[in-house]
Amino acid sequence: MLTSQVAQKFQEIFASNGALLVRSPGRVNLIGEHTDYNNGFVLPAAVDKAIYLAIARRPDDEIQLFAMDLGQSYRGPIRPPLTPSALHWPNYILGIVEQLQGMGFTIGGFNCVFAGDIPLGAGMSSSAALENAVIFALNLIFGLGLDPMTMVRLSQKAENEFVGLQCGIMDMFASMFGRKDQVIRLDCRSLEYTYFPFKAPGLRILLLDTQVEHSLASSEYNVRRQQCEAGVKLVQRHHPEVKSLRDVTLEMLSAHVAPVDELIWRRCSFVVEENARVLSGTEDLLRGDLAAFGEKMYASHDGLSQKYEVSCAESDWLVGQVRGVEGVIGARQMGGGFGGCTINLVEEELIDGLVTRLAPLYREVMKRDLKWYIGRIEDGTSAV
Ligand code: GLA
Repeated sequence: MLTSQVAQKFQEIFASNGALLVRSPGRVNLIGEHTDYNNGFVLPAAVDKAIYLAIARRPDDEIQLFAMDLGQSYRGPIRPPLTPSALHWPNYILGIVEQLQGMGFTIGGFNCVFAGDIPLGAGMSSSAALENAVIFALNLIFGLGLDPMTMVRLSQKAENEFVGLQCGIMDMFASMFGRKDQVIRLDCRSLEYTYFPFKAPGLRILLLDTQVEHSLASSEYNVRRQQCEAGVKLVQRHHPEVKSLRDVTLEMLSAHVAPVDELIWRRCSFVVEENARVLSGTEDLLRGDLAAFGEKMYASHDGLSQKYEVSCAESDWLVGQVRGVEGVIGARQMGGGFGGCTINLVEEELIDGLVTRLAPLYREVMKRDLKWYIGRIEDGTSAV
């Protein structure tokens, strides 16, 4: 439905109906948080919430954009150097254009209208979805011949360099490579990936949205990255072969980091443990041992909360409330942190009862409304 609304708006604004339509989804991540930028493992999937975009070339060198959900437009020249917009959202698009220009592509102007139903600030990667939608669309309308992994890397670089968040590759990868009813284990060092059917009859992915504005997210996120790098440097003094936390063991951290800097030790040991949880968690899924997988989700949350310190009172509370509740297999905070959603594996018929119980309590204790979504696993970025 959003596709036709976007197409119609495009027609209204630009008096043309020859636009390419693209759908690019948000993502969930079952386990493996803050591991991507440490060359580790993640286990995400694309979901049924997405950005929908209509786009067409212009005969001149202008970029004209319209964000339907915000009712805002942007207009500017495509000539480099591109300058960030104070509206913020155009930067996800301009960042992609800048990357393409940096690769030596000369692309012309374009018109673009987009809308989406990925909840903003919920840690479901609406920004990666938008970046992927744009690179995917520009690749087609200008015939650039880019392969999907190159597009993923460009989306990530756009976010790193133009938007300024030093994010890893997970969100863009999951959004681009998603497949219906499958989760993907990505090795963020080699970029090898494996699809695993997410077969859990009667189970659903329930996302509980803390509704916490994660304003700390980008600055603290970048700090966590630096802390991981600091840990790697300490280990490298004794193990020069080590390149990232992927190569580091808990023993190395105890020997070389814990005595020097307790905080850095805590951060790094979370990452090393989280990587191990992704690997053994996928084994659990293959064996159909969901209970064991769920325990790892709780352990992941504990690490995010106590060692990596990227949770918040609201997500700790939500995970605490569902822990031990019959029919809830596992739960943890998802995404970059400091708010966003918790991801919960819950028996379908218990969901209504659970949210009906939690919502008023959440309002009472946290003074916020609780929102929730069911995450259905869908295909990645594609033309519609
Ligand atoms: C954000 C980033 C990802 C990843 C997660 C944490 O979503 O964009 O690259 O680091 O946080 O796992």
